[in-house]
Amino acid sequence: MNKNFILIEHPLIKRDVTILRDVKTTSETFRAALQRVSNVLAVEISKNFELTSIDINTPLEKTIGSKLTQDVILVPVLRAGLGMVNGFLQIIPEAKVGHIGLQRDEETLKPIEYYYKVPKNLETSEVIMLDPMLATGGSASEALKYLKKRGATKLVFACLVASPEGIKKVETEHPDIKIFAAALDRELNSKGYILPGLGDAGDRTFGTL
Ligand code: PRP
Ligand code: URA
Repeated sequence: MNKNFILIEHPLIKRDVTILRDVKTTSETFRAALQRVSNVLAVEISKNFELTSIDINTPLEKTIGSKLTQDVILVPVLRAGLGMVNGFLQIIPEAKVGHIGLQRDEETLKPIEYYYKVPKNLETSEVIMLDPMLATGGSASEALKYLKKRGATKLVFACLVASPEGIKKVETEHPDIKIFAAALDRELNSKGYILPGLGDAGDRTFGTL
C-alpha cells in the first residue's frame, strides 16, 4: 500500500469499527461509535500540526506556551461526513467547518454535486476532509479537486472505511493527499458497496434505511 495511506490502528478503533459494522447496531449507537472513532482520528491527524510559541502567565510566573500556528478547517462531505464533525470538534474545538454536498448516483456510481460552502482562508489552513466511506473514490476525488481549486494545500482526507479501489483512485488523481482510515476493507461489490463494510453510512447515521 502507498505511503500516503495511513491506517490508524488502535484497540478502541477496532472495538468501535466492530460496532459500526454490526447490522444490529441502532443509529444512536452508530453515531456514538463514529464520534469516538473520529476523536481518535483527530488526535492522530493533528499530531504533526505546527505550533507557535506564546508568552503566558500562570498564577505563579511567566512561561512559554503553544498555540496551533494555522487555523483548522473541517470539511464533511454530506451527508455521512456530518457524523464525523462532532468527534473532530471535541478535539479541535476552534476549527471552522465547511460543507460539500455530493450524492453518488446509484446507477453510474458517479458523484453528483449539490452544495458547496467553505470558509475563505483555505490557503492558509490545515484542511481535513471528512467522509466515512471511501468506496470507488469518485466522491472523495471530486471533493478534493474542489478544495484544491479553492486554494487548499495543507489538505488531508479522514475516512472510516477504505476500499483498495478507492485508495487507488485517490492516489492516482491526488498523489499529494494523505488518506487516514480506521479500517482497510477487502473489495467493492457490483453495486459499489464496500465488503465487508458497514452498509450505507449516511442511512445508518441518520436512520433513513
Ligand atoms: C457515500 C459516502 C461517500 C460516497 C462514497 O455517500 O458517504 O460520500 O458514498 O462512495 P464513492 O467512493 O463510490 O464515491 P452517498 O453518495 O451514499 O450519500 P449520503 O452520504 O448522502 O448517503
Ligand atoms: N457508500 C456507503 O455509504 N457505503 C459503501 O459501502 C459505499 C458507498
